[in-house]
Amino acid sequence: MFFHRALALTALLCACAAGAGEVEVLHYWTSGGEAKSVAELKVMMAARGHSWKDFSVNGGGGANAMVALKQRVLAGNPPAAALIKGPTIQEWAGLHVLSNLDAMAQFEKWDTLLPPVIAEQMKYKGSYVAVPVNVHRVNWLWANAAVLKKAGVAESPKNYDEFFAAADKIKAAGFIAVAHGGQDWQDFTVFESVVLGVAGPAFYQQALVQLDKTALASEQMKQALQVLRRIKGYTDSQSPGRDWNASTDLVINGKAGFQFMGDWAKGEFLAAGQQPGKDFSCSPAPGTAQAYTFNVDSFAMFQLKGWEAQKAQGYLAYLLMGQEFQEKFNLRKGSIPARLNMDMGKFDACAKTSSQDFVATSQAGTLLPSVAHGMALAPAAQAAMRAAVSDFWSNDKTTVPDTLARLVAVAKLR
Ligand code: GAL
Repeated sequence: MFFHRALALTALLCACAAGAGEVEVLHYWTSGGEAKSVAELKVMMAARGHSWKDFSVNGGGGANAMVALKQRVLAGNPPAAALIKGPTIQEWAGLHVLSNLDAMAQFEKWDTLLPPVIAEQMKYKGSYVAVPVNVHRVNWLWANAAVLKKAGVAESPKNYDEFFAAADKIKAAGFIAVAHGGQDWQDFTVFESVVLGVAGPAFYQQALVQLDKTALASEQMKQALQVLRRIKGYTDSQSPGRDWNASTDLVINGKAGFQFMGDWAKGEFLAAGQQPGKDFSCSPAPGTAQAYTFNVDSFAMFQLKGWEAQKAQGYLAYLLMGQEFQEKFNLRKGSIPARLNMDMGKFDACAKTSSQDFVATSQAGTLLPSVAHGMALAPAAQAAMRAAVSDFWSNDKTTVPDTLARLVAVAKLR
């Protein structure tokens, strides 16, 4: 333990001196907006003489990337850093393959710079093993402003009655009402927003985070599944298998009205030169204005051999928590900085709302971990819930009672 602490601190202190090292970084940021965001990091590493080896694995939500990571670590050849999140961080730390970052965290006072809910996720047995780069809000509904106008939809829907009335108008005007990519993690993303909107934050916590069997089998969950199935009726025939960013493109290009997606979607609108409030809108998913489902992207550092590699890795960790990186990166990524007290002056209205709501919901007790994005459940339980939801979404013959039974069964994997 002492050995790794010493390394991390030396790496930090050497951050001032140029010295070539390579960092290989595993991530799944391959869409237009995501690639621009990660490019900020490459540039900043290169400015200190460190080189970047891209280990990007296609597939939104990161399931493919996690498979690739396991293979590399099992083969004894881990990357320097990997985009891993939530309870998955604890699983990797439990295998004793991650570097301890406490020396840097203490020197840089990470405990004072991060909201406790985020700092806790970055720690294993009280020690920092990962670095957070952002907070994504998941419970958003994106809309193309011109499409809504043409369809005669004046306001963003605040509940599901309003949502279905708006969706009917959009459909009648000849557009796709809901742009959705039928992939398991995307189905799961819509599901968690629907559960939150239909049954509220306390129910979300009880059913999806605590896996309370009574809540999982309840009338509220039944209603949420019925709403989910109804939403599917507003998607287009090309939806199955489509990538999330291709669905966002449908909204950007005025072919579709709405998309349920976390604010990485905003990165696509911005990369396409669009502006919030003018070309597109960001509104809380119906019924969820008083709550916030968070999804924090973070990088864990794997134990490496070789001084140069360790030095470059230490510098990467230091950069990721820096104000400059957190501003530049999040301006492109659609998220907000993980660091507290950052100047939000350059950020747009969606990010400002997100930042204010993060604080307000945290105080109100309605700041909730995104289950679909790996913030709450151990990977096995998350995968089982995702499969149950996705089977329900993709196969209309899968019944509500059968799905409720599968959701209840997830509680055993707690
Ligand atoms: C999320 C991740 C985001 C974004 C998205 C699509 O899970 O936190 O950063 O990459 O998936 O892949």
